[in-house]
This record gives sequence, structure tokens and C-alpha cells, in this order.
Amino acid sequence: RRGGHAEVCLTRGIMCSMFSKDARMNTPTAAPLTYRVTLSDHARSDAQRADILAGELGFGKYFTDHMVAIQWDKAQGWHDAQVRAYGPLSLDPAASVLHYGQEIFEGIKAYRHADGSIWTFRPEANGARLQRSAARLALPQLPVAEFTESLRQLVAVDHAWVPSAPESSLYFRPFMIATEAFLGVRAAQAAGYYIIASPAGAYFAKGVAPVSIWLSEDYARAAKGGTGAAKCGGNYAASLLPQQEAYAQGCSQVLFLDPVEGKYLEELGGMNVFLVYQDGRIVTPELSGSILEGITRSSILQLARDRGLTVEERKVTIDEWKTGVASGAISEVFACGTAAVVTPIGELKGKGFAVGDINAPAGEVTMSIRKELTDIQYGRLPDRHGWLVKLA
Ligand code: PLP
Ligand code: COI
Repeated sequence: RRGGHAEVCLTRGIMCSMFSKDARMNTPTAAPLTYRVTLSDHARSDAQRADILAGELGFGKYFTDHMVAIQWDKAQGWHDAQVRAYGPLSLDPAASVLHYGQEIFEGIKAYRHADGSIWTFRPEANGARLQRSAARLALPQLPVAEFTESLRQLVAVDHAWVPSAPESSLYFRPFMIATEAFLGVRAAQAAGYYIIASPAGAYFAKGVAPVSIWLSEDYARAAKGGTGAAKCGGNYAASLLPQQEAYAQGCSQVLFLDPVEGKYLEELGGMNVFLVYQDGRIVTPELSGSILEGITRSSILQLARDRGLTVEERKVTIDEWKTGVASGAISEVFACGTAAVVTPIGELKGKGFAVGDINAPAGEVTMSIRKELTDIQYGRLPDRHGWLVKLA
């Protein structure tokens, strides 16, 4: 493949009948897409790739040789689907994404099983969330079946980049941007959908060790009626200053409270949060309209229910966390998300207070939920909920 230049047409049709017409989303009838595959003429050699995969992968540092690109415009709908060499995008400087932040993204992984096969986890949930994000950001909706197919198309070419080291995976970053060159403030009439992929190890530098969390009291990441429930770049831009504050305090993530009363837990900059009670209850903030509905969150709720645990999705005040940890009523706290998987939270710090013990070992419930979830993802436990989808 290296040095070569091949052009292949894959004629795998996609059935998109359920998304045929939705005037609200101004998405014309979705025709089955055919991907044009152009192999990179500067792909890394097998030895270069093996070198990268054998090293410390971390998170989001390395990218595979190819990417997916699909274009959309109001007249044609989705068209020009390609798998092509990973590389810079060419954008008109007037493209609306650069001015008004019309952008959304997803995060989903591919897992290599012991037999070499490659699987992903609940792609229809990520595809549906991308549609909800698109609706909120006035971007076009990619059919869910096409979302899954686009992952499959990238893996068909870059399968060798799916690592096999324990707990490693290939992290996909699907994203959509408004590309129309027009400075008027309205929804763009042209957009691009892309996927890049990154072989990934642990999100946090210390691996699965407990992390410290900083409570942001001066900043919110979302507003009532805002975009908090959408996975759009703007939410993360709003989290970066408080995230810097967290780093300055020796913490690795920031915790946000509700934007109205500043009293209830929402989530971390890039993860949902759970409290485990001594009496066995598992509690997580209810979906408030400004929290991202995590697929890891929903999977953990299901696994906890399967275990017969009492699961509570409700409002949780920051005082409940502070006093519960101090009294011992709350025995464990953890964060969860695709990138972070399940990460124990050892300590919560804020202006003038700290609760928890960063040096305490990771909680048992946290680690056993983490193990059960990853055992399902890596094919070590039966997939009793039908969450896995084979990619290759
Ligand atoms: N909350 C935020 C703000 C996130 O960025 C993420 C990560 O995607 C999550 C929660 C967890 O979502 P998921 O479990 O679907 O990855
Ligand atoms: C994910 O877990 O997929 C995320 O998007 C979190 C963060 C890396 C932005």
C-alpha cells in the first residue's frame, strides 16, 4: 500500500428509509451512499505503526492513515462519501464553523477481541446522539445507519491500527462542521462530516488511579435552554478556562454545577459522574437538559440494575457529596465516559475545602463495574444486551 495509489469503489448500499424525510432538519431524502476509497500514498509502514502501537498511546496523540469525509448541502443532501488519506481540511475562511462555532462531534471506540475481530459499542446510540446534537446546532442529520457504516468503512482500511494491548482501543472522533462561506448568522447550507481515528490507551496520565476533581463555582459549561445536552465544541471551549483552574489546583477534571441555582451536580468537563452509597445505592444526576447523556452512563445504569442495585437518577446537591463523603455514607465516587471508561474520583476540591482521600485505593464497586463493562466491550463476557456491533 505504501507509495501506491489505489482508487476503489465500494458499493455497499445503506438503507436509510427511516430517515427519508424530515423537513425540520431540512435533510433531503437520504440515498444510499457509496464510498470512494483512495488509499494514502504516505501511509506509515507496518514497522512504524507497530512501533507506535507498542509505545505509550495515551489519548488523542496519534492518528491513523485515513479518514472519512462526507459532504452535505441543502440541494443534494449527503453525497461525496470518501475514505481518503488523513490530512488537512481545506476550508473557505468564511466557513460558518470558524465564525459561529457550528460544530458537533462524537466519541466512540473500536475494541479488538482475542480472536482478532473488531467491535464497536452501541453505535446506534452515538449515531442518535449525533442527530440530537445536529438538531440543536441546526446542522443536517446523518442517518444512524450511515453513522455506523462510516465507522465500518474507516476500519476496513485502517483495521491494523486497532491496538491489541490490554485496555487499549481505537478511538473514533466523528465530527460535523458548517462549511458554507457566508457571514450572515443563520444555519449553514453546506456541511461536512468527518471521522478521524486515534489508537488510545488511558485518558488520564496515571491510568486507572483515582483522580482529583476541582469544583468550578465561577463558571458553568451550559445554560438553561443552551447547548449542554448537545456534544458541540462550544461546550468544551467554555470548559477550558475552569479546566485550567483545575490543573492549577492539582486536579485533573472540573466539576460543573447546574447553571440556574449553582447547587446541583451536573457533570465533569468530559465525563458523567456517579456516587456509590455505603448502603449499595448508585446515584447519578438526572438528565437536566444541560447534561450530556452519556452512553457509558446509560450502560452503567443498566449493569447496576442487572445487579439488583438501587439506582437513582435524580437531583444531587453538592452538599450531599461533601457531607456524604465526610460521613462515610458515600463510599465511592467515579467518573465515566468513552474516553475515561470508568475512573475513580479520590478527592473533590473547591475554594476552601477538600473532601475524600486521593491516596485511598479505588472503590470496589467502581472497579467491578469498570471490569464488567470492559469485559463486555472486549468480548470477555457475553453481550447480553446486544450492545456490540462487529466492524471487521
Ligand atoms: N459528559 C461530557 C461533557 C462528555 O464529553 C462525555 C464524553 O463523551 C460524557 C459526558 C460521557 O459520554 P459517553 O459515555 O457517551 O462517552
Ligand atoms: C469522550 O469520552 O468521547 C469525550 O468526548 C470526552 C472528551 C475526550 C472530550
